Amino acid sequence: METIILSGEKAIQEGARAIKNGDIVVFPTETVYGLGASAFDIGAIRQIYDAKGRPSDNPLIVHVYKKEQIYSLAVDISAEAQKVIDNFMPGPITIILKKSELIDRCITAGLDTVGIRMPSSEIARKFIAACGVPIVAPSANTSTHISPTTAKHVYDDMKGRVHIIIDGGDSDVGIESTIVDLTTDIPTILRPGAITSQMLADVLGQVATFKGEVIVAKAPGMKYKHYAPNCNMVVGATIDAIVSHYDSCIKEGLHPIVLCKSEFAQFLKGKKYIDLGATAEEITHNIYSAMHKGEEQADYIICQDLGTEEKLLSVMNRVNKASAGKRI
Ligand code: TXA
Ligand code: MG
Repeated sequence: METIILSGEKAIQEGARAIKNGDIVVFPTETVYGLGASAFDIGAIRQIYDAKGRPSDNPLIVHVYKKEQIYSLAVDISAEAQKVIDNFMPGPITIILKKSELIDRCITAGLDTVGIRMPSSEIARKFIAACGVPIVAPSANTSTHISPTTAKHVYDDMKGRVHIIIDGGDSDVGIESTIVDLTTDIPTILRPGAITSQMLADVLGQVATFKGEVIVAKAPGMKYKHYAPNCNMVVGATIDAIVSHYDSCIKEGLHPIVLCKSEFAQFLKGKKYIDLGATAEEITHNIYSAMHKGEEQADYIICQDLGTEEKLLSVMNRVNKASAGKRI
């Protein structure tokens, strides 16, 4: 299959036509690029699982362009859920609600809940509106690889597996949406993202965060190895440890690269590194791009431990997964 990258109004129209024909289409969102299909076309939904090599027990989230759509896809929407809808949508958040009869179990992998997301990206919303149906979409990467934040990332990973990629430039946020389960007594974060637990707590009063095994049971996708580059990656606790590990990699004939905050770049003169930026927003925006570049330009990635600042917890969640917990 030939893979083409389209942009502008034509891309939205061609993409929507393909969806209506039962095909799958890649589209940009403010978090990461998504691989979309009509939520009402089971054949197209199966193609998503095939194209990604995704296990069938991992549910898909449903994307809408206006809030009214949410009320037909979900039932029993609590006052808490309504507050999240009012305060954070459209935006980088996915809400888990009890599904309505319109949602087939092949979307939810048999669960009676559904994840719903309304992107703030204008291109994403125009595309979903043009399709005329809600759009199911996982991140547009092959299963377990790094999520894409540019059309080129998608092309390099998915060429031959999908026909149309709609190019919307760099994804603003840079990591996947926060997932919050609103079917539990206390709203519970299943996947951290740019909407932090503090931001949710400010609106809801209290939120819980699932850790370790509990997340596994709640968000099926979290149990799979995720977000990993095609080469080894480790987390370096201190700049001294990073520098000496880098030197021993070189001695072993490896080609390492360091990912670090701007303020640490000065300690890496003469070494290969990628500056992730200074603010939490910049670092979030750049992390996946840096991993993509890292696997292209090197064969070993050493990522600085980015610390425990609340806004960077979601980035460290992805970094820890990408490095499978390996630390130096
Ligand atoms: O930012 C995002 O959320 C991106 C863009 C494209 O919207 N999408 C995305 O989809 O990251 P995906 O499939 O890569 O990750 C969705 C996660 C998976 O871990 C899945 O298991 C979980 O959401 N999920 C989906 N439906 C669920 C449900 N009903 N209950 C619990 N977890 C659910
Ligand atoms: Mg994904």
